[in-house]
Amino acid sequence: MLVDYNITTNKLILRPPTTNDVEELFVLMQDNDLTRFLSWEAHKIIDTTRAVVESLITAQQNDKGYHWCVCIENKIIGLVSLIDVKRTIRTWTLNRAELSYWISTPQQGNGYATEACRAIVQYGFEHIQLHKIIVAHAAENAESAKICAKLNFKQYAHEHQAFMKEGKWNDLIWYELFKKAI
Ligand SMILES: CC(C)(COP(=O)(O)OP(=O)(O)OC[C@H]1O[C@@H](n2cnc3c(N)ncnc32)[C@H](O)[C@@H]1OP(=O)(O)O)[C@@H](O)C(=O)NCCC(=O)NCCS
Repeated sequence: MLVDYNITTNKLILRPPTTNDVEELFVLMQDNDLTRFLSWEAHKIIDTTRAVVESLITAQQNDKGYHWCVCIENKIIGLVSLIDVKRTIRTWTLNRAELSYWISTPQQGNGYATEACRAIVQYGFEHIQLHKIIVAHAAENAESAKICAKLNFKQYAHEHQAFMKEGKWNDLIWYELFKKAI
């Protein structure tokens, strides 16, 4: 079955990344300010971006993760994803994924992450057969906390010293949203 993953919102076009996007994404993913709270480092060489884009495409083909370039007209301004898709564990049905997102620094503060995330959360429940979506942000990431609240995610855990970045341990705040809650 051919599935069309393209989504149009009020201000944005969301579409899966392709290898044609590598150069444009590399420019955005070189930004150290962007990665302060993220699990990846700013890209130093374009081969890193190419490998990432290829892994995103493979994940999507294998129902492991779904990714969308956030675009204004033809310009990419960020990436939003439903990652780590889990359908089952042994005899249990899970149908869960984790929301992840970034918007390029110059485009932040315009409501784009909220609009894009709202659209893919709805898409995940309606078209990717997800039952539950989780999301986590570093405790100090106030902008990300606002997005979780605006999308009606409910906090279910405060994980202490969840990851170390640049020599410092950081807490993670975890949230969940169920299909029936939207
Ligand atoms: C978190 C992030 C995706 C938010 O993107 P965004 O498009 O700016 O978010 P939105 O504009 O939809 O809204 C987020 C809230 O944070 C506020 N905000 C965003 N950037 C801001 C800034 N630089 N200064 C002050 N407030 C800011 C917005 O005004 C909004 O708050 P409001 O509801 O009170 O108006 C973006 O800051 C980002 O990419 N950060 C780096 C990557 C990251 O941390 N990703 C999340 C990992 S969990």
